[in-house]
Amino acid sequence: QPHLASQIRWEREGLACETSINLISSSRPSVLGASGGIGQPLSLLLAISPLVDELSLYDVVNTPGVGADLSHINARAKITAYLPGPDSAGLEKALTGCDIVVIPAGIPRKPGMTRDDLFKINAGIVRDLAAGVAKFCPKALVLIISNPVNSTVPIAAEVLKEHKVFDPTRLFGVTSLDVVRASTFVADVAGGDRTKYKVPVVGGHSGETIVPLLSQISPSVSIPSDKLDALVNRIQFGGDEVVKAKDGAGSATLSMAYAGFRFAEALLKAGQGETGIVEPAYVYLPGVPGGKEVQEIVGGLEYFAVPIELGPNGVVKATNPLPNANEYEKKLLEKCYEGLKGNIAKGVEFIGTQS
Ligand code: NAI
Repeated sequence: QPHLASQIRWEREGLACETSINLISSSRPSVLGASGGIGQPLSLLLAISPLVDELSLYDVVNTPGVGADLSHINARAKITAYLPGPDSAGLEKALTGCDIVVIPAGIPRKPGMTRDDLFKINAGIVRDLAAGVAKFCPKALVLIISNPVNSTVPIAAEVLKEHKVFDPTRLFGVTSLDVVRASTFVADVAGGDRTKYKVPVVGGHSGETIVPLLSQISPSVSIPSDKLDALVNRIQFGGDEVVKAKDGAGSATLSMAYAGFRFAEALLKAGQGETGIVEPAYVYLPGVPGGKEVQEIVGGLEYFAVPIELGPNGVVKATNPLPNANEYEKKLLEKCYEGLKGNIAKGVEFIGTQS
C-alpha cells in the first residue's frame, strides 16, 4: 500500500480548519533469493530498517532457517519466510501484498566467467519470478539484481508485458554497485573521504557497458590523465577483483547487499514522501518521464542506466547527463551502445522464443 499524505479540511460552526496528516502505511518488501550470498545480508539490512514493517523472504532452499535467524532480532519488521511448496503456493504467499520486490535469485560468476555466461540459468529464474510478480503483486516496485542485468531486466519487462501489467516506472535494474564502486575508486585516486564523491555511471551493468562520467564527479575533482584509463577500467571490471579474490566461491555479495539496500531504502524513503532522491538504475527508457531524450542520444536503445529521480510510484524522472559527456566519455559510450544492443535483444528474444 502506498504511503498516504492527506490534507484534511473541514468546516464546523462557521470555522474553516485545515490540517495535514501523515498516514504512514505499512511497507512489505520481499527478497526472492533470500538465502543466497547477496540475499542474506540484504535481508538483514532490510530487516533492521525502521522503514520496513514486514519482510517476506523467498528462496528455493533454506528460507525457514534464514527467517528464524532474522526473526530473533529485536527490530520492527515482522519476518515471514517461504519455500516454493506445491503449485507456487510459497511464491504466492511471499509476494501477495508486497510493495517492493528485490530479486537477487540465480547463480553468480566464477573466475573466468562474464555476466553474460550466467544467462542460460538466470534468464529462466528471472522469467518465472517475474511471472509471480505479475500474478501476485503486479503493482510492486521490482528491483532486478540477478545477472546479466542488461538482459534480465528486458526479460522481466517482456513477462510483465505478456501479463499486461508492465509499468516501466516500477521496474529497475540495480546498478547501484557500479556507483558505489566508482565513488570508492575515485577517492582511492583523488584522495579524500570515500563517502563524498558522487559519480554518474550510465549505460549497463557489465564490463564496457558500464560508463563512468568522470568529468561530472561531484564535488568536482580532476583525475590525472595518466590515471584515467586505469580508473575507468577498475570501475568497469571491479567485480572481477572480487570474483578472483573469492577464488570460485562466487562474486560480490556484501558490497552488493549494501548497494541493493541503498536502492531499496531510497524507494522506501520516497514512498514515505521524501523528495529529491536520485539514484542510478537501468530502466525502460520509452516508458519513463525524461527517458525519450536519453533514448535519442543512445541510438534508440530501449534500456539504459542513468540517475533516476524517485518517488512513491517509482521513476519520477530519468535525468540526462549524456549531453555533458566529453570526447573521452563519448568514445566509451559508443562501445557501451554496441554491447548493450546485443544484451537487450538477447533478453527480449528469450521471452519471444518461449511464447
Ligand atoms: P548465490 O548463489 O549465493 O545465491 C542465489 C540464491 O538464489 C540461492 O540461495 C538460490 O537458492 C536462489 N535461487 C535460485 N533459483 C531460485 C528461484 N527460482 N527462486 C528463488 N530463489 C532462487 O548467488 P549471489 O552471490 O547471491 O548472486 C545472486 C545474483 O546476483 C547472481 O546472478 C549474481 O551475478 C548477481 N549479482 C548482481 C550484482 C549487481 O550489481 N546487480 C552484483 C553481484 C552479483
